Amino acid sequence: MTYKILLLPGDGIGPEIVAEAEKLLLAAGDKFGLDFSFTRGLIGGSAIDASGVPLPDETVALARAADAVLLGAVGGEKWDRGPAHLRPERGLLGIRKALGLYANLRPALLFPQLVGASTLKSDVVAGLDIVIIRELTGGIYFGEPRGVETLTDGTRIGCNTMVYTEAEIERIGRTGFDIARRRGRRLCSVDKANVLETSQLWREVMVRIAADYPDVELSHMYVDNAAMQLVRAPKQFDVVVTENLFGDILSDCAAMLTGSIGMLPSASLNETGFGLYEPVHGSAPDIAGQQKANPLATLLSVAMLLRYTLGEAAAADAVEQAVASVLQQGLRTGDIALPGERVLGTAQMGDAVVAALRGGV
Ligand code: IPM
Ligand code: MG
Repeated sequence: MTYKILLLPGDGIGPEIVAEAEKLLLAAGDKFGLDFSFTRGLIGGSAIDASGVPLPDETVALARAADAVLLGAVGGEKWDRGPAHLRPERGLLGIRKALGLYANLRPALLFPQLVGASTLKSDVVAGLDIVIIRELTGGIYFGEPRGVETLTDGTRIGCNTMVYTEAEIERIGRTGFDIARRRGRRLCSVDKANVLETSQLWREVMVRIAADYPDVELSHMYVDNAAMQLVRAPKQFDVVVTENLFGDILSDCAAMLTGSIGMLPSASLNETGFGLYEPVHGSAPDIAGQQKANPLATLLSVAMLLRYTLGEAAAADAVEQAVASVLQQGLRTGDIALPGERVLGTAQMGDAVVAALRGGV
């Protein structure tokens, strides 16, 4: 059987890091007897340049025909002045919505070798292993009405709407409980129920479905407190489940606990387990094309792809071990190097992970 993988390199550092992911998938295929075929599609700014829109219909069709999608990053200053519907980010939001990828899993795991790379004290972050589950196709990112308009008196207003149906909350809530069940059995639902009606409904639904998961301990936290607790005592968390915008913000915060946002992978899944995999970081236009980007978040996204969509757990474990092994060897990209440490380029780091994978058991 051949697994069909759609590669969406996107903008900025996207092409460089996706090239490393492709190498790694081929190497994992060799080692574990898996066959991969690759197609490529356009998304974001590069799609705007080529076809005038951030998400060509063809890209969605290619994704539907694939077993899984691996995405680099989208965005860049070049496209920032266009109208809202022609921004590169709309491509990313559009593909999430079109494929129904409502469950975004963002694990923040601190490799012990990187404990010194975090800006937080070692004892605060050592051993950190949490997962943020972000609702990805609802909330204020997609709610209507939205837009900027001019009232009759000439006042301009900007408007977005945070809206969730009970079914949307229940679906992501169950994802949270299911994942907590496979880990430390603690689920923290993050909301702003002291102010927002959306959050009050969110909390009510979480409490209702908790009855189906008596083995998981459910707690609730307001999002402002959660942001503070993430940097104060992040190890108190096991699995966090939250709405789209809160999850966007908290997952960047969690990323820094692990030393660098360049280390954080993500999986965006739909009801069938089909998924789009991408690093949590953005397109970093300032270092694009310079071989300075850390490919490890993308390579760890490959591990998630193998695990969640393809069900190839042995290959996924091997990729994660290969990443741990290069870190153990002291290999670093610029973002995770301490002063004086030798810095590898993007492809050199990718090659090192491939070598570790081939050499490992
Ligand atoms: C992310 C990013 C995106 C988001 C942007 C690029 C649209 O920040 O995946 O976290 O806000 O979802
Ligand atoms: Mg974000």
